[in-house]
Amino acid sequence: MPSSFRFRDVFYFVLVFSVAAFAQTPPPLPTSVPTQIPGQNAILMGDAWYPEQWPESRWEEDLKMMEAADLKVVRIAEFAWSRMEPSEGHYDFDWLERAIALAAKHHIVSVLGTPTATPPAWLTQEYPDTLRIEPDGQRVTHGNRAHASASSPRYREFCRHIAEQMAIRFGHNPNVVGWQIDNEYGYALMSYDDATRLQFQDWLKAKYKTLDNLNAHWTTAYWSQTYDNWKEIPIPVGGHNPGLMLDWKHFVTYTWTSYQQNQIDVIRKHADPRQFITGNLMGFFDGFDHYTITESLTFASWDDYVGTGHVDPAYNGLAHDLTRGFKRENFWVMETQPGAVNWSSLNNFLNRGEARAMAWQAIGHGADDVNYWQWRSALNGQEEIHGVLVGPDGTPVPFYDEAAQTAHEFAKVGGNFRDTVPVSQVALLYSYDSHWALQFQKHTEKYNDIELLKSYYAALRQISQSVDVVSAYAPLAGYKLVAAPSLNVLPEGLAGHLLEYVRGGGHLVLGPRSGMKDEYNALLPQRQPGYLVDALGARVEQYYALEKDVPLSGAWGSGEASTWAEQLNSHASDDEVLLTYGKSNGWLDNQPAAITRAYGKGRITYIGAVLDDKLMAAAAAWMTQKSGVTSVFGPVPDGVEVSRRVGPGKQVFVLINFSQVNRRVALPHAMKMALDESQTDAVDLPPYGVAIAVDNNR
Ligand code: GLA
Repeated sequence: MPSSFRFRDVFYFVLVFSVAAFAQTPPPLPTSVPTQIPGQNAILMGDAWYPEQWPESRWEEDLKMMEAADLKVVRIAEFAWSRMEPSEGHYDFDWLERAIALAAKHHIVSVLGTPTATPPAWLTQEYPDTLRIEPDGQRVTHGNRAHASASSPRYREFCRHIAEQMAIRFGHNPNVVGWQIDNEYGYALMSYDDATRLQFQDWLKAKYKTLDNLNAHWTTAYWSQTYDNWKEIPIPVGGHNPGLMLDWKHFVTYTWTSYQQNQIDVIRKHADPRQFITGNLMGFFDGFDHYTITESLTFASWDDYVGTGHVDPAYNGLAHDLTRGFKRENFWVMETQPGAVNWSSLNNFLNRGEARAMAWQAIGHGADDVNYWQWRSALNGQEEIHGVLVGPDGTPVPFYDEAAQTAHEFAKVGGNFRDTVPVSQVALLYSYDSHWALQFQKHTEKYNDIELLKSYYAALRQISQSVDVVSAYAPLAGYKLVAAPSLNVLPEGLAGHLLEYVRGGGHLVLGPRSGMKDEYNALLPQRQPGYLVDALGARVEQYYALEKDVPLSGAWGSGEASTWAEQLNSHASDDEVLLTYGKSNGWLDNQPAAITRAYGKGRITYIGAVLDDKLMAAAAAWMTQKSGVTSVFGPVPDGVEVSRRVGPGKQVFVLINFSQVNRRVALPHAMKMALDESQTDAVDLPPYGVAIAVDNNR
């Protein structure tokens, strides 16, 4: 985004010195930049508004109620294609321009969504080849959404035209602050038609150049899969060759990235550079590689839904940090639920105060905007009983007051967050290739790499109170500790990148199943951890999907391994065994489970088992202590989450009590409490209570 774009360099420079002053240690590299809109409050709250669903005479009433609630942003038009292009090539944007102007009159800026998730009926009727073909060969019918084919050249032409017309009309509108491409990227659904298969084959040809090369990397001699002609290569449906399946995921990523680029190009051509371009992602949704798809966006945003049940602060915090890590910038929560959704197995309402706690959690983790989906439900349509701020009669529902309270707070104390970002000493590495490879070959249904990531995250965040989640290929030099809980796909180039970090003084911790595959999803002959075996001075001799827990003991105390256990073997005299298995299946008895070794100026540690929570906590304590990681705030009671954002000359803490009992939190020293304007060194938080502590005295 232009605001961050222009001042990114200056921001880095100033922030490095601020962080150094607070930490009194060499500063970690700032890994984020703000995504704030010049001239607007530093943190914003808004909603999804659909003026096309209501008579124009009603609009101002809605906007007045939004203004009264301090809602400052509307995202509009992302499903309004049939209103904007009622028939082929005939555009009508006048109504939208009036809606944007009326919103601006009420101090509300607009984010325009391109409507390409919902092509109009005239389009799909006239050009049925724009509709997706399902894996079973059936063409999708019109009337839901994401029914078009992202790989159809004809569909892309229509998308380009509507995006271009919108950009010509609104690209210089002062009240349009940015764009959202499509909506949730059609859930990465693909069309299984002949044209798409040809595109996949061409894509493979461009990648592998020769069939010999492809056959070798996929080991197609296995099961007589050898290809003699590019046209023989299928789109995988269900289980297939792991190399082919991974390449299909890369092709899906390529398809949705180029689908998006097609629209970005015309928007960039006609729009002011000050208008940002984003896409609304979905946390751990894994349809495509998010590091790739976000490359050409100004910043990432995501849709934060709980669905059934209640917010799991660790999982939700992890998903925020994952999103911040896509571009290593602050981010937006483009949608979140106003109490309840309509699509889950049980659409229970969040408890009173829970959504406010969630909104503040987003800010603590680096969001600069939070929007509720949606303002008011249409009287008919698939989502007519989804959560809202305004009921079918057009007057506020009880939840409106909670949203308004939170938005008033954003408006009141937001200035403290100006130019601030989370800064972490610890990074967790995430890799879509590894995630997919593990999904394809789970070996045990119980192996869940996201759950394992969460267990590392929760334990490390409990101590450090700030963790980045970044691509395995991200710059790592500023981190004191880097952990990769399941880096299954670890090609030579990536190993070199990680070794450079370790040689330079970093501490790399690898979890189970790491370093097993190359970039073609083929086994590495060195065995795990592949290209890192020499540096570790040890390798995995054999791995075991566990039927039942296995006892473990060592430097971190004693406990259990569950789900997965690897038998390590050390060949270096300076290796230190940290954990050893107890008696179990005979193979694992008395064998090493975790090993560490000093290497270069740093250290490499391998943990070959999924540890129970107590052992994980002890392992995290050891890792952080060994790496010199400090906590950003200090001890907080159980269930209280603390997040920190750092800016030039200041640090701001967001304290949230996610437990169901009152908690007293002692501050490291007296600070200004921004919400109630007190000065204190301890704060009492009721369940879902929030406090914002500002420290700008250093
Ligand atoms: C998604 C979509 C929205 C809406 C909400 C409902 O996030 O982007 O259009 O359907 O879900 O929860």
